Amino acid sequence: MKAIAFLALLVCYASSVQSNIGNYSWEGPDSGTRVQPPSPEENECLTDTASCGCCLMKQTMHRMEEFFNMSLGELQHSLTETRSVLNNMRASRSAFSVALTDRRWCLGPFLSDQVIIYRHVFLNLGGNYNLFNGIFVAPRSGVYLLSLTVYSDSGSAGSHLAACATMMVNDQPAAILRDLNSQDQEDSSTSVQALMLSAGDTVKVVLPKGCFLCDSGNHYNTFTGVLLYSTD
Ligand SMILES: *[C@@H]1O[C@H](CO)[C@@H](O)[C@H](O)[C@H]1NC(C)=O
Ligand SMILES: *[C@@H]1O[C@H](CO)[C@@H](O)[C@H](O)[C@H]1NC(C)=O
Repeated sequence: MKAIAFLALLVCYASSVQSNIGNYSWEGPDSGTRVQPPSPEENECLTDTASCGCCLMKQTMHRMEEFFNMSLGELQHSLTETRSVLNNMRASRSAFSVALTDRRWCLGPFLSDQVIIYRHVFLNLGGNYNLFNGIFVAPRSGVYLLSLTVYSDSGSAGSHLAACATMMVNDQPAAILRDLNSQDQEDSSTSVQALMLSAGDTVKVVLPKGCFLCDSGNHYNTFTGVLLYSTD
């Protein structure tokens, strides 16, 4: 390909030199016998086949260069778009997973509803779960997977058990776990759901009044949220 292009340019050069010389007769410019240059209307291909080939080759090369430039432009555009999507995905990583406590301990019962502040942190990628107020704030709009598991131990068979908690999205109940009885000493329940959240939406777990949860280093009580994918 390079060789052909070079050859074409050589022919071009030779023909253009020739056309300049062609303005004069063999006697030289001083003789005054000028050869009329071709009029612009005249087809160059009819008078000079060499320059015609060169011309066609030049046109082809120009078209190829245009095509190359266009393809390169499109590739650069796609690359920029892909990079932006990738950066967006990287920036939107958000996942948290927490447990009630590390030691044997029971939370509640209280006389009013209380937000549960989970003390043990498995993961808080993106830092969107607030360890001081127990509230997760969605960093961006998207589909989130949320999971809540509760467990309680009444201490002895026949004692009243109240293993209950409510997961709230923007102060509205999204999952209600409730196990009140006196038959079991221990009880556990779980809710898992995928929800569409908007950026800034809050998710928290409330311990309703009268309920109590017990935990140990076994992490029976967990609260987990993961951004599956963002939609903004
Ligand atoms: C020969 O003619 C062409 C076209 O008229 C012109 O562009 C070129 O400058 C001329 N060459 C010389 C050496 O006069
Ligand atoms: C192709 O791109 C180069 C660099 O931007 C530019 O100099 C050249 O004129 C372009 N060629 C065509 C045929 O558009």
